[in-house]
Amino acid sequence: MSETVTLKIDGREVTVPKGTTILDAAAQIGIEIPVICYHPHLTANGLCRICSVDAGFRTQLAACVTACADGMDIQTRSEDVVRGRRTILEMLNSTITLDEAPEILELVEEYDADTGRFAEGKRRESPVYDDNPFYIRDYNQCINCWRCVQVCADDAQFTYALSFDGRGFETRIGTFQGYGMTDTTCVFCGQCVGACPTGALKPKRQALLEQGIDPDEIFYQTRRGRKKRSEEAGG
Ligand code: SF4
Ligand code: FES
Repeated sequence: MSETVTLKIDGREVTVPKGTTILDAAAQIGIEIPVICYHPHLTANGLCRICSVDAGFRTQLAACVTACADGMDIQTRSEDVVRGRRTILEMLNSTITLDEAPEILELVEEYDADTGRFAEGKRRESPVYDDNPFYIRDYNQCINCWRCVQVCADDAQFTYALSFDGRGFETRIGTFQGYGMTDTTCVFCGQCVGACPTGALKPKRQALLEQGIDPDEIFYQTRRGRKKRSEEAGG
């Protein structure tokens, strides 16, 4: 049995080891396919579908999770593919705030997405969780990419403090029983913050600096816990 497969991507032939994803095979010949939920060091789950490509089937294939097969003839930027990506970006924009997601905003521009197309669409709103001295969780900016869950679990930390919560449109990232972060298994390693492609997870110090709080006060608050210096002085 052959250990390699040969296929065409955008008309160019490429031979790769069996099991190679379309995303990696394309990268080998210099063809870049856009990604959002995919991260090279985390298990891919094929959630956002921005990497979808056309292989002549009834439905498009998510390049980050689909293995190459012999004889495939893939188009990575056909009209349908581009239109699909544009719609994904427009729908993302209608549901959540992308202001602090620079890589996604670049795609919005590249694919000429109309950010007002679904202006009447329901937004996925969430409280902002400021429940620990290290990072803030603002799920109004969360695209449910699952990276934070993956890095907190089997891909790096084996801590399992985060998981999905809710169903359907209400699906969001949460903690067990909705506990505050200090009551979970979280060890505040910061891996989730580092893996988040949007501003949904943000270091507390960065968030306070952006609010114009004095750096000394920020250091004091994040070192000593939740109290402000003035509160402590007043007892
Ligand atoms: S919080 Fe960030 S990393 Fe986690 S699912 Fe949302 S966007 Fe992805
Ligand atoms: S990057 Fe492939 S599904 Fe999100």
